[in-house]
Amino acid sequence: MTTTTSAQSLWLKALPADGYPPLQADETFDVAVVGGGIAGMTTALLLKQAGLRVAVLEAGRVGAGVSGNNTAKVTALQSTVYSTILQKHGEYAARDYAAASLAGVEKVAELAVDCDLQRRPAYTYALAPGEVEAVENEAQAAAKAGLPVTSEPMDVPFPVHATVKLADQILIHPTKYVLGLAAQFVGDGCQIFEHTRVGQVEEGRRCRVRTAGATVEADRVVVATHYPILDRGLYFARLEPTRAYCVAAKLRSGSPPEALAINPGTPTRSLSASGDLLIVAGESHPTGQPGVGMRRYEELENFAREYWDVDQITHRWSAQDPSSYDKLPMIGRYNRFSDRVYVATGFMKWGLATGTFAGMILADVLTGKDNPWAERFDPHRVTLNSVPELARLNAKVAVDLVGDHLTTPGELPADVRIERDGLGKKGIYRDRDGKQHAVSLRCTHLGCLLRFNAAETSWDCPCHGSRFDVDGNVLEGPATKPLELRDV
Ligand SMILES: Cc1cc2nc3c(=O)[nH]c(=O)nc-3n(C[C@H](O)[C@H](O)[C@H](O)COP(=O)(O)OP(=O)(O)OC[C@H]3O[C@@H](n4cnc5c(N)ncnc54)[C@H](O)[C@@H]3O)c2cc1C
Ligand code: FES
Repeated sequence: MTTTTSAQSLWLKALPADGYPPLQADETFDVAVVGGGIAGMTTALLLKQAGLRVAVLEAGRVGAGVSGNNTAKVTALQSTVYSTILQKHGEYAARDYAAASLAGVEKVAELAVDCDLQRRPAYTYALAPGEVEAVENEAQAAAKAGLPVTSEPMDVPFPVHATVKLADQILIHPTKYVLGLAAQFVGDGCQIFEHTRVGQVEEGRRCRVRTAGATVEADRVVVATHYPILDRGLYFARLEPTRAYCVAAKLRSGSPPEALAINPGTPTRSLSASGDLLIVAGESHPTGQPGVGMRRYEELENFAREYWDVDQITHRWSAQDPSSYDKLPMIGRYNRFSDRVYVATGFMKWGLATGTFAGMILADVLTGKDNPWAERFDPHRVTLNSVPELARLNAKVAVDLVGDHLTTPGELPADVRIERDGLGKKGIYRDRDGKQHAVSLRCTHLGCLLRFNAAETSWDCPCHGSRFDVDGNVLEGPATKPLELRDV
């Protein structure tokens, strides 16, 4: 890998130096939206358009979360999602998911401002002969779900064994898109507060959204923090985050494919583009898996170099997204008995379309309108045939919570060591200047033992996916508090 590769998503360059100010004094709004990604900003904008005064509270920068770290495809054809939904929930559920996803795609086209939007075909393709059956099944499932899919050749420089195609999907610049939503949102009593991490939400006739500096009072709160930050509702027992890796490549000759494509098997090779840069993504694994390193990026780079005339890998980045135990997104009331706090999560790495329809559903629900898909994606649906998956998730967390404290981590890079720390453990990272950074390895969410991620130089939690930098600052929730610092 060349030394000039940027270790950041190419979309993040679009962030302006000056953002929105942090929350500094107590304020009152009709609705507080926590999280300024595609789900939060879409919800906020649609609520503003319905006449409400809305605040968005964002821990970092708007559009810089997973919404700025993906492969930019806005599509209703999503790998083999329809085969899965058909098998787990039946035809009506698959039809609802397809209709909602198509509506999400068209809503993006409607709301888009200056985000390099292009109509492109989306494909699910077989990279290996062993994937043909899955692709053919998906063609049938997607058609049953009501999508006008076809099977047509895909123009790529490697053998493809089968395809299913959905025309007229969308490629965007995702950070510019979310920033465009933000620009339309601000004004008329609606505000964005960046660098404002929410620690707690007290629910009541008026909800109190607590940050370190000040409090927002609101009638209703939408938690759009990607992985829900509030422990009530047991989301952490029903969601599993997985990370995936992306590289962008400048080509010496030829151009990236027009197709927004993904294969269903392992290794996954998802194809996308930004201008004349080719994007390849894949190498997925559950967050917090031991022994993660730069090899993930190298595998993607090798694939790109094998089939394209790659001049340089310009960017590399990785991100994670949670899937729910029953493989449908969770959109609606945060807990069964509340009509004050709402949530949108579980987008399974397809949240540009799904996060958008989540915003459409939540805007309808909060303004008292009927929405045809609200019940289907209600977080409190009961799906008995998914109980084995729920049991698997919780058994895995139980092992990570208890077992990890008794075992040693996988192989560690030379600049990292783990030492006993009273009853727990501390992790020590030595940076390039020789400075040591020591933190407690007890996750501040529910106490699982963190593992080192050498691809991102972070401490990652195998239980629910919280991530921390080497100085203990929260990179991703559900944790909201930093790690305790330790002496070396
Ligand atoms: C490698 C990869 C590739 C992907 N490619 C695609 C793709 O091509 N197409 C597609 O549709 N989907 C894709 N996805 C998925 C998609 O990017 C996500 O589903 C979507 O962006 C999630 O949006 P979000 O608004 O829920 O989360 P985010 O964009 O992460 O927004 C959540 C925001 O909440 C903020 N936040 C968190 N905690 C707090 C707190 N305590 N207080 C205040 N704010 C907080 C965060 O800072 C963040 O900005 C991909 C995902 C991955 C991992
Ligand atoms: S994220 Fe839940 S224990 Fe770490």
